[in-house]
Amino acid sequence: MRLLSILGVATLSLSASAALVEGEPDVNSTLVQQHLRDRQKLITLEKTHRQDHLFRQNLSPTAREADKIVEAIRQYEIDNYWRIPAPPQDAEEEQFAGEMFPRARDRIANTTLWQVVRRMPKGSLLHAHLSAMLPYEKVVRTILDTEGMVISASQPIDSEEARFNASITFAHVNTTLPTNETSISDSHYVPDTQVPIKQAADSFPGGVEGFLDFIKEKTTVPPEESQRHELGVDEVWRRFQACFGPADTLIQYEPVVRVFYKQLFTDLVNDGINWVEIRSGGSSGKLVHDGDEDIDPDLDVWWDVLLDEVNKFKATEKGQNFWGVRVIWSDARGKDRAKITRSMKIALERKQKFPELFSGYDLVAQEDLGRPLSDLAPELVWFREQTEKLNLTIPYFFHAGETLGDGNSTDNNLFDAVLFNSRRIGHGFSLYKHPNLIHWKVSLSGI
Ligand SMILES: *[C@@H]1O[C@H](CO)[C@@H](O)[C@H](O)[C@H]1NC(C)=O
Ligand SMILES: *[C@@H]1O[C@H](CO)[C@@H](O)[C@H](O)[C@H]1NC(C)=O
Ligand SMILES: *[C@@H]1O[C@H](CO)[C@@H](O)[C@H](O)[C@H]1NC(C)=O
Ligand SMILES: *[C@@H]1O[C@H](CO)[C@@H](O)[C@H](O)[C@H]1NC(C)=O
Ligand SMILES: *[C@@H]1O[C@H](CO)[C@@H](O)[C@H](O)[C@H]1NC(C)=O
Ligand SMILES: *[C@@H]1O[C@H](CO)[C@@H](O)[C@H](O)[C@H]1NC(C)=O
Ligand SMILES: *[C@@H]1O[C@H](CO)[C@@H](O)[C@H](O)[C@H]1NC(C)=O
Ligand SMILES: [Zn+2]
Repeated sequence: MRLLSILGVATLSLSASAALVEGEPDVNSTLVQQHLRDRQKLITLEKTHRQDHLFRQNLSPTAREADKIVEAIRQYEIDNYWRIPAPPQDAEEEQFAGEMFPRARDRIANTTLWQVVRRMPKGSLLHAHLSAMLPYEKVVRTILDTEGMVISASQPIDSEEARFNASITFAHVNTTLPTNETSISDSHYVPDTQVPIKQAADSFPGGVEGFLDFIKEKTTVPPEESQRHELGVDEVWRRFQACFGPADTLIQYEPVVRVFYKQLFTDLVNDGINWVEIRSGGSSGKLVHDGDEDIDPDLDVWWDVLLDEVNKFKATEKGQNFWGVRVIWSDARGKDRAKITRSMKIALERKQKFPELFSGYDLVAQEDLGRPLSDLAPELVWFREQTEKLNLTIPYFFHAGETLGDGNSTDNNLFDAVLFNSRRIGHGFSLYKHPNLIHWKVSLSGI
């Protein structure tokens, strides 16, 4: 009723006295016509409240035309490419647009829509974590060809269960390891013994390809597992988090790191991305130089190598339109006050030395289990004071509100994020429960 009066439409009342049932529905009746007009008005009215309303209003004629074409391609593929009903005996085979990403991934790559989307200019990639950006297969293949790379495992990988339980570490050594045919996949393997990666791969069940599959399992959450909602958010986070250990050790050896950056920037440009802000905890400096095996304690080297690779890439033809890279310093939110403070001090020094490359500050890892931002307030206030004293600009870019919770500490992190003037909020999918925060954030972000 209220809706209709907003639209200025007279509401109808049905006469209670009608007794005779007569006639047929009239497609041209005044009331039907009126309903259809009201419906159109309501749709139009609602569109003016959408966040993309102004944007759509201001589209150029060419953009409007392009939008129509893309919309048609999309609808065509929904109907003719995606929609494949399951055979009666196998519901698992049902295929449709919008199915879970891991199931759809390979098919997405074959769509015309994907060709369009891939070539569209994206501008910036603003939320990415370095060790989750690995084109893992390319990196592992590089490592296989890199003299002195070794792998070790926390236990012999001699059964499915062991394969699942084992954690692995990569490293570079510059001495010849004593010859021993025992590899990580042998039941006699002594835990944590380094094995040349080539030997580990060649002797792995399934050979090099089997080895690559195994490394993939250890550095990514496999599709089957990412769909297992019944495991719950904590267990999925545990599996996700377990990927970062091995991934971090994959990108410690300078020659490999350099290949990785080159590949990363090339992939970004191929995807139409010109600017990237990378969250990294590895930015506290863990680089082993070419031919060495110990980590260089000089914290500058990680930054120097990144800067060098960015500049080299920009000088190539592929990189000529690449704007660049910045780093968002990321601390694990579970760290105690002393550890966070120590890391913040290093961050302040890094910002002074690499003002262009250093962007801002964030806290990462599972929000539910880490310290709430309110608990971190003393560190965050202190850090801001230091930046002011040193005349540095280090904005916050907090992950916040990555939760289904309502009113618990994860959800309430959004209040702190807004009050600390977080320049962007990571995930923030709890934000819809906070109309005032949305409003304040929009007005604050203008400054
Ligand atoms: C409804 O009206 C249109 C023209 O306004 C007419 O062409 C059509 O035949 C009508 N349909 C019926 C079922 O009366
Ligand atoms: C994608 O297209 C290629 C080439 O036409 C084909 O071989 C492949 O099976 C397709 N993949 C999927 C998942 O449809
Ligand atoms: C794997 O881990 C589970 C759980 O900790 C343990 O019960 C099991 O014995 C382990 N198996 C192997 C082969 O490591
Ligand atoms: C290789 O290492 C295994 C334990 O991992 C040991 O039992 C074996 O004797 C060693 N072989 C050689 C040739 O050193
Ligand atoms: C091996 O690495 C260490 C430190 O990483 C280095 O000091 C040493 O010179 C290297 N040895 C050779 C033979 O390159
Ligand atoms: C702070 O930095 C700005 C520009 O970045 C500069 O103009 C100003 O002089 C600096 N102030 C101090 C006290 O260093
Ligand atoms: C908040 O609630 C969500 C949903 O129940 C839950 O997953 C999350 O662990 C909670 N956070 C905390 C800190 O308890
Ligand atoms: Zn993130």
